[in-house]
Amino acid sequence: MSQLLTYLPQFEGVLPKWLVFVSVVSALNSLQAYISPAYTSQLYSNGQVPASPLSGRVFGTWTFLSAVIRMTAAYNITNPVAYDLALWTYGIALTHFVGELVFGNATLKGRFISPLIVASSSLAWMLTQREAYLA
Ligand SMILES: *[C@@H]1O[C@H](CO)[C@@H](O)[C@H](O)[C@H]1NC(C)=O
Ligand SMILES: *[C@@H]1O[C@H](CO)[C@@H](O)[C@H](O)[C@H]1NC(C)=O
Repeated sequence: MSQLLTYLPQFEGVLPKWLVFVSVVSALNSLQAYISPAYTSQLYSNGQVPASPLSGRVFGTWTFLSAVIRMTAAYNITNPVAYDLALWTYGIALTHFVGELVFGNATLKGRFISPLIVASSSLAWMLTQREAYLA
């Protein structure tokens, strides 16, 4: 992990490190979602709503796509295209998570809390820091 961080541009503040961290965690979540649909079911609803193997793999696929985009943005934090795509990954994730709360397939407890916090705080962070990084 710290090895990975030494390759980052060294003057850019904490956001790129956060993006690397979330990217690595997202990639691991993606792997877990591929391995077992129970993981996805636990994540969303503490196991209350079953997830099919297909929906687990779909979740894993879009999570991995997010991980790739976040990693790209971490290493190109001053590039507006990379920055905005990473910002969108959080916006889309947050919309999806809040949507599942509304549809009733997610519950506001257990493992579902952390992705909700990560998506909303990262979105707020990237929106407020956008001008500073892209200046
Ligand atoms: C993105 O970051 C990589 C690694 O630092 C660098 O080689 C590449 O030139 C950057 N791309 C852009 C478009 O800035
Ligand atoms: C999951 O969402 C669907 C709507 O997409 C709803 O019909 C269903 O009742 C929900 N399942 C649970 C267990 O809440």
